[in-house]
Amino acid sequence: MSAIKEIKRDELDTTEFINERAKEISDLVGDGCAINALSGGVDSSAVTMLGHKALGDRLKTYFIDNGIMREGEPKKIESIFKKLGVKIKILNAQDKFFNAFKGITDPEEKREAVTQTFYKDVFGDLVKESNAKYLLQGTILTDVDETVAGIKRQHNVFEQLGIDPQKAFGYKIIEPLIQLRKDGVRKIAEAVGLPESIYNRPPFPGPALAARVVGEVTREKISIVRKATIVVEEELSSINAFQCMAILHNDRVTGMRDGKRDFGLQIEVRCWDSIDARKATPTKLPHELLTKLADRMCSEVPGVVSVTYNIASKPPSTMEVV
Ligand code: XMP
Repeated sequence: MSAIKEIKRDELDTTEFINERAKEISDLVGDGCAINALSGGVDSSAVTMLGHKALGDRLKTYFIDNGIMREGEPKKIESIFKKLGVKIKILNAQDKFFNAFKGITDPEEKREAVTQTFYKDVFGDLVKESNAKYLLQGTILTDVDETVAGIKRQHNVFEQLGIDPQKAFGYKIIEPLIQLRKDGVRKIAEAVGLPESIYNRPPFPGPALAARVVGEVTREKISIVRKATIVVEEELSSINAFQCMAILHNDRVTGMRDGKRDFGLQIEVRCWDSIDARKATPTKLPHELLTKLADRMCSEVPGVVSVTYNIASKPPSTMEVV
């Protein structure tokens, strides 16, 4: 396990970085082929562009439709990359993910379920079918730090936990962004020609909306948190926060609807100011905005009777709830 040398945004020479990483990928993969998963986040988008620069058509890019992404995401991302000349295959793996979540409530077990489904079931099969020896992925230094510190098992960290992907899943992993933090990745993403809607996109976690459901993850709960996410993202879009999110709690609380008791759902809204996700503070949102958000949440998301706003900082909070 070697220590990773951080490259700070200020000292990052984008042309040099892109050329060096592309050459490394090309040297490693040789005349074989590689695969990668694009989620549409800044990290995986930057890796997709670097990989295509290095390998062209020998990099097969998949969008894994795991059923836990935001509304309309697969088609939206496919069309952005089509404009950049990068073909993407959308793979429906929803059943695999929801089966893996069955009966699991512990946060770290939920993360592990995402990891195993993604890397073993979905990618294990894809690698066999495509004959690829390598998977390219957008792990960044913050993912490694949090995993090694035992804060959260990030879905994409293996070597630092003593896991050999070749033995565990049957392929090697290349991580061209591992020396960077989010702000550095944004600089690279812009330099490789991605549009601003991608390079300035707020981060979104690998375990997707499953990181925002307390308790067992089911299709029904994901559908609720997905609707709540639309409301939060629309209402807070002008704030330009580092990240904002809706969280579905497991407990129910007594509310009232149409003059009757309704033992309903609780949504927690979080909106973060942060530079690199290592520390974060809740954005000071105007009360009128919070009220509008709560009104929309209760009328547009079925069953919601309680909306709270998180006011605790990271640490000791973390940004996602799982
Ligand atoms: P936390 O919740 O650890 O989140 O304070 C810090 C930042 O990381 C994102 N996040 C993840 N990103 N895989 C990722 O790629 C993950 O497993 C993961 N978990 C959290 C989170 O959205 C925030 O930006």
